[in-house]
Amino acid sequence: MIHPVLPPACYTEQSWFDLEKKKIFGELWLLAGLKQQLQTEHSFITRNFSGVPVLIQNLGGEIRAFRNACAHRGMPLQIEDCGNRKLICPYHGWSYHNDGRLRGIPNEKIYNLCQSDQANIKLLAYAVEVIGNFVFVNLNTHPIPITEQFSTDLLRLLKEVSVHFAPEISYTTFTGNYNWKLNFENVLDWNHAQFVHRQTLAPLLKFESGGIFSAAAPDKSLLFVPGSPLADIRFSGDIQLSNPIHLQDISRIGRSSMPYAPRWFSPLLNAPVDPGAFFACNIFPNVNFGSIHGEHFYVQQFSPTAPDRIEYHSWVFTARLKPNIPPQPHLLWGIHHAEKRVIDEDRVLLDALQRALASAPHIGVMGDHEASLAAVGHWYIQHLDTRSAQ
Ligand code: FES
Ligand SMILES: [Fe+2]
Repeated sequence: MIHPVLPPACYTEQSWFDLEKKKIFGELWLLAGLKQQLQTEHSFITRNFSGVPVLIQNLGGEIRAFRNACAHRGMPLQIEDCGNRKLICPYHGWSYHNDGRLRGIPNEKIYNLCQSDQANIKLLAYAVEVIGNFVFVNLNTHPIPITEQFSTDLLRLLKEVSVHFAPEISYTTFTGNYNWKLNFENVLDWNHAQFVHRQTLAPLLKFESGGIFSAAAPDKSLLFVPGSPLADIRFSGDIQLSNPIHLQDISRIGRSSMPYAPRWFSPLLNAPVDPGAFFACNIFPNVNFGSIHGEHFYVQQFSPTAPDRIEYHSWVFTARLKPNIPPQPHLLWGIHHAEKRVIDEDRVLLDALQRALASAPHIGVMGDHEASLAAVGHWYIQHLDTRSAQ
């Protein structure tokens, strides 16, 4: 038995949320989007990270991130969620160089800004790390090395799997009425699949007695090849509750057996990347990335906007199509539709759990298999605050 670490207030109170904004979302590397969204010059994504507007844009072939605020009056430089448009403010036309320095001001004379004033004008830039196709941004002026946040195995997997991604993606956002941590705990909680996803995900999986996922065979996988450090990865609750808990240890990679059955679109794809398996990466603080057979992939992100509210971001794409096969938007739509059904099965319950936590005196007990959830709580308390968790 494990005693939960976090009191309900961590999921419901503004004071904890404010601390998280500073100590988690203001310090850690956050997923901003995928490289598939930023393929062409001037393509961009805008995001809002706990109230901070961020612009991520392909400028001169390099992916850069800035506060999405013009140096003149603070107008967002890009208004849409994503698109392709030069780095020019829509309000009064100030333009910027690729590195964020001011480039030009239309009707310059009316501003009466001398050369040295203009030379000092630049956008606030944020650090960017591109791991395979995963674009991470850090809002801190002195960001931690990304290798401190993510293990070598996780970084290796993200890099190696990205090679197999098709360039076309389906992307959507919606909201959830629960705390972001409930979603991270939920993706670590593999035991919920056979109850919550009884008719969707669970029938595809293989279980040993006691409800444990069966391990996937490493053969035929292009990622989890025998001899690789990734080969032995499986879903489990075998994390040691060390003291202190290390940040790297609260992101997990899991993999389990999922007998391969070709689907109608399988012949359109290159060989499945990981047939016979289902894998998922739970990437702290707020991303879940996984794949069914390495034929299609999903990325889910639960970005907090309030203690009891998230903005859910959902990306879906397939493995690369065979060279003579054109893009298949209807296929992506179909996969995304099925994916949303699974997400909604979780959302209904997490909404209900959030409402229950609002008046809960404490959180119940946990089993040994939930050590990875408890580890998140331990790290959270040790990192955020010295206040007692009681
Ligand atoms: S606010 Fe951007 S040019 Fe005026
Ligand atoms: Fe789920």
